Amino acid sequence: MSSVKVECVVKESCEVGEGPVWEESDQSLLFVDITKKKIHRWNSAANSIRSMDTGDMVGCVLPRRSGGYVAGVGRHFVAVDWLAQSVMSSLAEVDQDKPTNRFNDGKVDPVGRLFAGTMATETSPAVLEKNQGSLFSLTSDLKVVKHFDQVSISNGLDWSPDHTTFYYIDSLRFSVDAFHYDIHTGTISERRVVYKLQEDEGIPDGMSVDVKGNLWVACYNGGRVLNIDPNTGVRLSTVLLPVTKTTSCCFGGASYSDLYVTSASLGLTAAEKGQQPQAGCVFKVTGLGVNGFPPNSFAG
Ligand code: BGC
Ligand code: CA
Repeated sequence: MSSVKVECVVKESCEVGEGPVWEESDQSLLFVDITKKKIHRWNSAANSIRSMDTGDMVGCVLPRRSGGYVAGVGRHFVAVDWLAQSVMSSLAEVDQDKPTNRFNDGKVDPVGRLFAGTMATETSPAVLEKNQGSLFSLTSDLKVVKHFDQVSISNGLDWSPDHTTFYYIDSLRFSVDAFHYDIHTGTISERRVVYKLQEDEGIPDGMSVDVKGNLWVACYNGGRVLNIDPNTGVRLSTVLLPVTKTTSCCFGGASYSDLYVTSASLGLTAAEKGQQPQAGCVFKVTGLGVNGFPPNSFAG
């Protein structure tokens, strides 16, 4: 393997930096700070950042074909008008029977459906009432589909390059799971475990699939990204980062050969913050020798 380099590129310190998405059109990285209720957009060429407030916790933000973004804010799928710097309108509401739930990670499938899951309110990071969340999708006609419930912390999700497999993480199961995916109907079935985390690897969080079909899984409290072959369940390599609360990753940059990794600082003691001054920043990993896919845009 070529030589792997890890660089801190976005020095904006997030409480819970999450959900990175590369926007090729102007070489920017879109991501959220969940607890600070902010969407950030970092322009890599200018090294400048623009941010907006979402008014409630924001779990994910994704590009939308008709312009602007869609985001999971509180328990709502919302349309975001980035140019006007305002959350425009709610597209749909979920978990009406669980008013203290909120959206967490989300991603758009290869035909434009937005998948995102929910979780209960945490009393401190990763401490919460279990099994309160569900996984939903929003179709282009703005209908909500509930795929399953009993989720504790709905996290990383992505699809195999041939679109027949959906990968999913419920963090508190400490595993990466796979489902059969029917791209025509947007339905999932036949859940199975493809990788069980070892204790020192942390809590599985956000993930991204590369063009070979291997997974890159950011591990909260593990300070690392695991590269996993989901077909064999073998961990191929580990990328270590200089912060412990690594939260998510996506490919970006020229031909999607760089891996961008977000991180959190919330929950660290003052001493831990002293030891890892870059906690909450975004990192760029180069030299991995793999490429990722461009992000999909919501079709609605
Ligand atoms: C959630 C955090 C949680 C973390 C660790 C993140 O995706 O948004 O609230 O503490 O995962 O599981
Ligand atoms: Ca996450």
